[in-house]
Amino acid sequence: MTSERLVIAMDGPSGSGKSSVAKAVAQHFGLAYLDTGAMYRALTWYCLQQQVDLTDADAVLAAAQNFPLSQGTTADVEMIEVDGVDVVEAIREPRISENVSAIASNRGVRDLLINMQRDAIKNSGYRMVAEGRDITTVVAPDADARILLTASEEVRLARRGLQLGGTQNNEQLAQQVSARDAKDSKVNNFTEAAEGVTLVDSSDLNFEETIDAVIKAVEEARQK
Ligand code: DC
Repeated sequence: MTSERLVIAMDGPSGSGKSSVAKAVAQHFGLAYLDTGAMYRALTWYCLQQQVDLTDADAVLAAAQNFPLSQGTTADVEMIEVDGVDVVEAIREPRISENVSAIASNRGVRDLLINMQRDAIKNSGYRMVAEGRDITTVVAPDADARILLTASEEVRLARRGLQLGGTQNNEQLAQQVSARDAKDSKVNNFTEAAEGVTLVDSSDLNFEETIDAVIKAVEEARQK
């Protein structure tokens, strides 16, 4: 077993397949895994549960300062608790997806969560795949490998539709996904790769091929 540091930063829009690919890559290299989107989602769940007015930036920040989050960092078991309550399923509900941008656009909240994310990377012994929207640029610009995973809008919508069980009306889904992308991209630019970040476009790749492409990009970055 090696304890050589290997921090892999992965960003990308929703529906890029980022989470599944990041987990598989963590398992391949024997690394811990951090889903930073889940942190923003869990905080949104907490604010709604505490009946915090999401339009009140100070109230949201105050909730974030007392955020009782407990999050696992293994790729094979998802563990997210807020004040002892298992929120793994609840944070994927539409009411969370609809409200999460109000939380993620709060500067003070971001600073707090970014610090928690840097602590998680440190606590892993710098052996972690961290994925989100600003990992390659803000959270861990010094990562050993930095990857931006993209896919065409058409492919992303199709994947999102499958994730939701194909029960949603396509037009509605397209509107929801593009509205969230538009809000998210106001906070972070995750549509273009920053300098030193490897772009992996998965539009024409299946799941296995995407994992292989990311592993290859990591190996190449490690050689540098
Ligand atoms: O990846 P996701 O859909 O679970 O992310 C949930 C929300 O959190 C999404 O609207 C973007 C935001 N987010 C962010 O602003 N920064 C991150 N590092 C991760 C997610």
